[in-house]
Amino acid sequence: MNTSRTEAAPQAANVVFIHPWDKAAAGWNSHAAAIHEWLAEATAAMLGAARIGPGARVLDIAAGSGDQTLAIARCVGAHGHVLATDVSAAILALARDNARAADLHNIDTRVADAQTLGLEGAGFDAAVSRLGLMFCEAPLDALREARAALKPGGRFSALVFSQPQHNPCLGVLMNTALRHAGLPPRSPYAPGALMSLGEPGLLARLLHTAGFSGIEMRTIAAPFHWPTSRDYVDFVRTSGTPIMEILAPLPAAAQRAAWDDMAAQLKVFDTPGGWVGPNELLLCAAACPL
Ligand SMILES: C[S@@+](CC[C@H](N)C(=O)[O-])C[C@H]1O[C@@H](n2cnc3c(N)ncnc32)[C@H](O)[C@@H]1O
Repeated sequence: MNTSRTEAAPQAANVVFIHPWDKAAAGWNSHAAAIHEWLAEATAAMLGAARIGPGARVLDIAAGSGDQTLAIARCVGAHGHVLATDVSAAILALARDNARAADLHNIDTRVADAQTLGLEGAGFDAAVSRLGLMFCEAPLDALREARAALKPGGRFSALVFSQPQHNPCLGVLMNTALRHAGLPPRSPYAPGALMSLGEPGLLARLLHTAGFSGIEMRTIAAPFHWPTSRDYVDFVRTSGTPIMEILAPLPAAAQRAAWDDMAAQLKVFDTPGGWVGPNELLLCAAACPL
């Protein structure tokens, strides 16, 4: 792997900036196998929608610890290249470790907020983002930045969570965390929220406003399989930044009570073959005009 990456985490003298997502980096990465299986079909659809093939130069936005980055790197091959970007320096460090362990040498990383990516004119053939865009409070800025990084005719594809009724576990997690923290309920479509881009029609409108053409949207079912609801909650406890952040100010015992409450409520999704949490993703595909 090329190590000539750009690292731009904001720092002041003697102060290292810790992004909230840094705290979930190890947890997200340690559940990589489960995440890979959960999102395998959707990831293949995203790469297909972006028409990623051998030799392509691809931008991966909010790449995390790089599960889809590695899939892209394999797909583009030795003559292609992937730039994995993320706001968390800690999670990108794990993406680099994973690329090295997989013996992939066509990946670079760059710490960057999707909303201020700063890659205008980079001329990528394609840009993708898996479960990252919805965390942007200004998703239109992120889409404009993605478009600016593409060559004319370049492809964009992204996966986000769809509507609350099709992602009931997310509602249970969020509402329970807020209640235990003594906070009022929040709109699932609030900017930056887990399902913020699931609001019907919103992502297509934003893509259009950002200047993309040929916009296509479809939903993909992505049930999440775990042995028990407790295993799912343990995953969220270490990897789910939005929920972790709500509970973080509480004493340890109060946090435990909240996680226990979530695990108990989520038993409703027990099946004879284990726990299956329904999830629905929205896949968008679009092109940068010629
Ligand atoms: C749910 S994880 C998904 C990671 C990876 N794409 C995957 O699917 O495995 C969300 C990722 O979005 C990143 N993220 C959140 N807000 C971001 C922003 N404004 N700009 C760039 N990355 C962001 C987080 O650091 C985290 O790595």
